[in-house]
Amino acid sequence: MGVLAMTPVFELEGVGFRYPNAPALDGVSFSIAPGQCVALLGANGSGKSTLLRLLAGLAFAQAGHVRFQGGELTEAALADDAGGLEFRRRVGVVFQNPDAQLFNATVFDEVAFGPLQMGWSREQVLERTGEALRALDIEALRERPPYRLSGGEKKRVALASVLVLDPEVLILDEPTAALDPQSQARVIDFLFERLGERTVIIATHSLEVAREIADTCAVLSGGQLAAHGPAEGILSDEALLRSTHLLHVHRHRHGPGSAHSHPHQHS
Ligand SMILES: Nc1ncnc2c1ncn2[C@@H]1O[C@H](COP(=O)(O)OP(=O)(O)O)[C@@H](O)[C@H]1O
Ligand SMILES: [Mg+2]
Repeated sequence: MGVLAMTPVFELEGVGFRYPNAPALDGVSFSIAPGQCVALLGANGSGKSTLLRLLAGLAFAQAGHVRFQGGELTEAALADDAGGLEFRRRVGVVFQNPDAQLFNATVFDEVAFGPLQMGWSREQVLERTGEALRALDIEALRERPPYRLSGGEKKRVALASVLVLDPEVLILDEPTAALDPQSQARVIDFLFERLGERTVIIATHSLEVAREIADTCAVLSGGQLAAHGPAEGILSDEALLRSTHLLHVHRHRHGPGSAHSHPHQHS
């Protein structure tokens, strides 16, 4: 293994970010190695989406450093045309709300959009778009307008439009949120089959999703990194999961007069 293979895909060092009226991230440091599948866990408002936006080069650290393969991710670095386009091809992002990223007239146009932007040949665009439609099982939807699809179908179109570029890094914000259980299982299966050698970062508050696909977990709480390490250790640390609001404690009845409370996992 050469020195390059050891360079982290992403390196966060003391990262801070705040919105005009709200702090979002404070002193976050950790690295993501090539090929890792990281679950970014945390309650609502803990800073997951903000952190993903920084990794995706859609926002920039106001304190500390975010490095992609050793180079600092700055607005200036991405503004350079070649650097920006190359970064966008290598790092694919699927937002939480697919409506924010589906804007073409048909599913086919949606999936072909990225390849066209990359300036690939007509044959290559057709071939890769066809492959992506097949891979996500949405060929039958190719002439449909994306905005008329179901939530699960939209997610698969959004995934296809990103996977078609064969990115080395896949960033997913709550990929199963707002889907019914069957669509959730379907999206997880599709992801699982297509992760391959990719580096994947998934923001989720579902411990089930983390258990199924992550090898590493990073837990955010109030914009700070509460824990980071191998998935098994973190996902079995009840005290940590409870204190970061990933496990609920609530009361329920086990027969007459025996209400009591114990940690309870909601998926
Ligand atoms: N566009 C925004 N403008 C102002 N505040 C925001 C914005 N997006 C997120 N926030 C705030 O930043 C904090 C972190 O939010 P976010 O990164 O969306 O967390 P999560 O994805 O874990 O729910 C929260 O306090 C949230 O209210
Ligand atoms: Mg979020």
